[in-house]
Amino acid sequence: MKCIKKISEIREQLNLWRNAGDIIAFVPTMGNLHAGHMQLVSDAKKQADRVVVSIFVNPTQFGEGEDFSTYPRTEEQDKEKLAALGVDLVFMPNVAEMYSSSNVTTISVSGVSEGYCGAKRAGHFDGVATVVSKLFNIVQPNKAFFGEKDFQQLAVIRAMVVDLNLPIDIVPVEIVRESTGLAMSSRNGYLTSEQKELAAQLYASLCAAKDQVLLGQVDFLEIERQACVKLTKLGFKPEYFSICKQVDLKAADKADKNLVILLAVKLGKTRLIDNLQINL
Ligand code: PAJ
Repeated sequence: MKCIKKISEIREQLNLWRNAGDIIAFVPTMGNLHAGHMQLVSDAKKQADRVVVSIFVNPTQFGEGEDFSTYPRTEEQDKEKLAALGVDLVFMPNVAEMYSSSNVTTISVSGVSEGYCGAKRAGHFDGVATVVSKLFNIVQPNKAFFGEKDFQQLAVIRAMVVDLNLPIDIVPVEIVRESTGLAMSSRNGYLTSEQKELAAQLYASLCAAKDQVLLGQVDFLEIERQACVKLTKLGFKPEYFSICKQVDLKAADKADKNLVILLAVKLGKTRLIDNLQINL
């Protein structure tokens, strides 16, 4: 497995593969890799000749007071995991390589990026869209793999790729969960074992809300309200629990068939997100 830190070097290597006719799959990550990331990589392996993974903790998507400086960095273990899966290239630039001091360009996707996490984390999706478009321009993959764990992020990237006419196939990958139902996340490492046990209730609350919808409850606001009350009683601070349309993340009503329940909570100092799709 090649480990490259410089943009000029990765471009050189990728040109060779592209000229040989190889289909290139790309998996952008911030490292601290877990089974969720690994699922993206193994799906990518099945659908391409070459798999490129980036590990870059992107400062521009973290707000003030968020966990950029404490975000877990586990480069050596990450590299071992990726090599074991047969990844061809890992790109690990530093911040100066990705952002020059004269940088003045931001990619901003309106609409889908505005509610939910976008409303709670000002500038977050601008940071994501900007770094992902830079990585896309560096790697120029045929396909890029994103987890449904970050459902809103996936919607933002899909909109960006359409609007900027990027010739990249965006491939969604289902959420990988612990046996308790807790969605895998690098931020689960911030939780105490007690908090981790409690956090399994997030998935349970999504499943309970989904069951209500499947049973014909059409008062979505009431389902959301009850879920927030329950989560608060359990010790979470809910930021949102919203039943929305998969297609544009706008609030769903009873006529909509393809729904997704998005949730974000704080548990202690840790912010956790999860979601569950409902196809009626
Ligand atoms: P990161 O949080 O490292 O996630 C990298 C990719 O792994 C994302 O597409 C995310 O949705 C996916 N992922 C994380 N946990 C998952 C799980 N439990 N099941 C399935 N997929 C999962 O998301 C980012 O990094 C960054 O915002 C990035 C896109 C790299 C831009 O900086």
